[in-house]
Amino acid sequence: MRTPIIAGNWKMNTSVNEAVELVKRMLQVDRVKGVKKIICPPFVSLVPVKNLIENSSIELGAQNMYFEEKGAMTGEISPIMLNELCRYVILGHSERRQYFAETDEMINKKVKTAIRFNLVPILCVGETLKEKETEKTRDVVSRQVSRGLEGINATDSLVIAYEPIWAIGTGKSASVAEATNTISLIRATIEKMWSREKAETISILYGGSTNKQNITEFVRQDEIDGALVGGASLKADEFVDMVKQTAEIKNKA
Ligand code: PGA
Repeated sequence: MRTPIIAGNWKMNTSVNEAVELVKRMLQVDRVKGVKKIICPPFVSLVPVKNLIENSSIELGAQNMYFEEKGAMTGEISPIMLNELCRYVILGHSERRQYFAETDEMINKKVKTAIRFNLVPILCVGETLKEKETEKTRDVVSRQVSRGLEGINATDSLVIAYEPIWAIGTGKSASVAEATNTISLIRATIEKMWSREKAETISILYGGSTNKQNITEFVRQDEIDGALVGGASLKADEFVDMVKQTAEIKNKA
């Protein structure tokens, strides 16, 4: 049984003070059972946020990481710095791929390093609008998954987020059918690399314009284990509501 996940990616938003205020208003999700609640604030807010959630069931993630453990890499953050602070790390987000030229090869190195340092990667994959319109979604996503996981032995320390790029921050989410089909493809791709049994243990989330109005449509699907939430995770009430709705639906099943 996979535990559902609602993960908030705050991206490059919130000052340290704002992050502290936001997380204080989210602490009430502590009481919601049966859903993993993960928040991924900017690096500079990891420590103060960690201090606030320490005695709660909320878990912490980072938004990126470099693939070497230390050295002359000005401005980068290493797995050693992160594994003292958090359990999860988002890797290969489409904004990193698009604006910071991250390749599947780099992302694969990051995934390997994260696992080596006991961090759980949240590996993001997804197609552009052009790729969707030219019916390349299946090729693109299965390639991103197999290259992202190349050379990695079967592990259950992994989360995958399917985030179609055209759905991120646009207010236009994928349809439930699109999300479900692609997530099934991702699981089948992992099954081919590892085994059916192992593929069944991996949580696969949908991300892209999820909010409190549409979250139930997605989490009602057995294949969809939760959501990676951007914009809506910056509003405490909305995030809390999404966690509660997910718990209600998944715990009923
Ligand atoms: P969004 O972002 O929910 O604002 O579309 C999702 C993400 O990029 O993880």
